[in-house]
Amino acid sequence: MDKQVDWSNLSFGYRKTDYNVRCTFENGKWGELRVSDSEEVSMHMAATVLHYGQAGFEGLKAFRGKDGRIRIFRISDNARRMQSTCEGIMMAPLPDGLFEEAVCKAVELNADYVPPYESGASLYIRPVLFGTGAQVGVHPADRYEFIVFVMPVGAYFKDGFHATPCCILRHYDRAAPYGTGRWKVGGNYAASLSAGMKAHEMGYSAVVYLDARSKKYIDECGPANFFGIEGNTYVTPQSESILPSITNKSLMQLAEDMGMKVEQRPMPVEELNCLDEAGMCGTAAVIAPISHIDDLDENIVYRILDGKEPGPVCKKLYETLRGIQYGDLEDKHGWVTV
Ligand SMILES: Cc1ncc(COP(=O)(O)O)c(C=O)c1O
Repeated sequence: MDKQVDWSNLSFGYRKTDYNVRCTFENGKWGELRVSDSEEVSMHMAATVLHYGQAGFEGLKAFRGKDGRIRIFRISDNARRMQSTCEGIMMAPLPDGLFEEAVCKAVELNADYVPPYESGASLYIRPVLFGTGAQVGVHPADRYEFIVFVMPVGAYFKDGFHATPCCILRHYDRAAPYGTGRWKVGGNYAASLSAGMKAHEMGYSAVVYLDARSKKYIDECGPANFFGIEGNTYVTPQSESILPSITNKSLMQLAEDMGMKVEQRPMPVEELNCLDEAGMCGTAAVIAPISHIDDLDENIVYRILDGKEPGPVCKKLYETLRGIQYGDLEDKHGWVTV
């Protein structure tokens, strides 16, 4: 590793690495993978991504273990989710195996950027697929570009695993019922920017979105799923407008392995009064525990924890999942690609 990276001071942000991997869909088929060292994309000014938002992406990570080997977490689940995003907004889906091949190639080519085990940092992998074909009528493009780029990112919790507050803001929605919320579509994130910025300015980590139809049930938390612990039960919302988080799916399995009951069902807001622990979950943090949730419209504080110290179940789930990702614990479910 001779890349002169200060592994302990990395943030979560773009950073140039040596290569990215690309593939183009044209004339009705996906071509061969290409390796590029350019950070630029050139496209037609009438590309559908620019006007009609035909863009989807993924986020996953690679980890270097104590043994020096590199492990990519649940790559096939991300491949399937990208497939479903493509179907959702009528982009050309990737043939089976191409996503995995492109991700592995991008990681291999940039292996020197996978942070050392001790740093607690990881390599973030960003696959993105978008319409580059020209259309002025509202139609799907006939040309698409798929790119996988990677960058080292720092440990999410630099000063220790701790809980932070969230807020409820009813006058914002990130996705409509039966809209694009269940896919990883670029426009969903544009739609969430103003609420997210507002929450951050007020000192909250994220907005807990309620279902857009009735505002009675919890949907998700900014760019993460929501879960709660009630006694020996792991509860997480079921809704047609939330992104199926791969971290959440993994935590549900681990909770079950730990002998807990797992419930995925609509969660009324008032249920926040019954939770012993709560957290946001996603690739970036694994778990970001929640200390309290301020309902700023109704003037209610849902206090989950007494301070910033996470509860025992969140800690155990967090340590177990991280242990599997870094290769310290046995990968019983076949989640890791070495
Ligand atoms: C809206 C949204 N929900 C949930 C998640 C968590 O998903 P995952 O665990 O697959 O990273 C993400 C992040 O990827 C997200 O953007």
